[in-house]
Amino acid sequence: MSAGRGEAPRAGVREAAGVWEAPGRVNLIGEHTDYNDGLVMPFALDLTVVAEARRRDDGVLRLSSDGAEPGRETVRLEVADLAPGHGPRGWTDYPAGVVWALRAAGHRVGGAELRYTSTLPAGAGLSSSAALEVVTALALNDLYGLGLDRTELALLARRAENDYAGAPTGIMDQMASACCTEGRALVLDTRDLTRRDIPFDPGAEGLALLLLDTRVTHAHSTGEYGRRRAGCEAAARALGVRALRDIGPGELADALGRLGDPELRRLTRHVVTENERVARVVAALTAGDVRGVGPLLTEGHASLRDDFRVSCPELDLVVAAALDAGALGARMTGGGFGGSAIVLTEVATAAAVTGAVERAFAEASLGAPVARMARPAGGARRLA
Ligand code: GLA
Repeated sequence: MSAGRGEAPRAGVREAAGVWEAPGRVNLIGEHTDYNDGLVMPFALDLTVVAEARRRDDGVLRLSSDGAEPGRETVRLEVADLAPGHGPRGWTDYPAGVVWALRAAGHRVGGAELRYTSTLPAGAGLSSSAALEVVTALALNDLYGLGLDRTELALLARRAENDYAGAPTGIMDQMASACCTEGRALVLDTRDLTRRDIPFDPGAEGLALLLLDTRVTHAHSTGEYGRRRAGCEAAARALGVRALRDIGPGELADALGRLGDPELRRLTRHVVTENERVARVVAALTAGDVRGVGPLLTEGHASLRDDFRVSCPELDLVVAAALDAGALGARMTGGGFGGSAIVLTEVATAAAVTGAVERAFAEASLGAPVARMARPAGGARRLA
């Protein structure tokens, strides 16, 4: 196999086949802070996108996925024709965007054959698009011997998401998929991309972190996400700082007093308090107080619901029903407007909490949510 050796492909020969995998993520705390240069704390899930890939020497990018929308399972593109800015074309935007981003950054990437399978539900707020991007970037990095590190791959994957797929997201999801380690949450400073891992093992404390997918789907390219981001940038400009990250908790009252627009005040309050909550979660985990994380999750949810306003009735219902049933804390996770919530609970009450959420959904005539246990898994890797 020539992967990683940088040899020129021989004409007419497909070579360097392999299998790669990249996970989805849950964000424990630090929501809508990543495009404000703030702190985030995601961990990887054991739900992944797997890519079987080989290099092609004819400049063709052939992408296939069993789970794709009917009629779009296999798509054949010419690498040289890839260009952003033609509006969303479906799931293939993410891998095609990675090939485009690699080439735009000057890397010598040609054709490839990539076949994807996934255990990660799309639209559940668990970063299926980032997993698709990262697995593609990792496979091409190996197949074409590019020698890029995880941070470089994550940045190129985000470029695919932002500039090719047209979703103005931050860097959290791609870094989580590329860099997380098993049994740990990733504390990432999105300003300089410095990171550290903190052990996070609720099971060892008799706790469970439940993941409840409301099955309300969301799409970040459809406007609300971009409006929040633009609002945060407007607030930072009005306050004369590079990003809202630069407002510390002690400066919040003064900053709010200087902002005339109530919407900008709400956005600012969320970002500043959320960065502080990440620090408080880190402190609780460092002190071995996993139960102490619960109330911080619930506080974060209230801030996302009332100040940042990215929750939805179904996410609020998960949180309210879980807390009523005795959970230690709960919040929406990811971009919002649907997707999933996380619930921290004693293992002994986990079944009762899940049952209470399911009953609340049934009583509200909503489709049943999907409940899973979330355990910190490893980041992207080569399988074969
Ligand atoms: C989405 C984006 C991330 C981040 C979260 C909110 O998942 O892809 O970059 O902004 O929303 O924290």
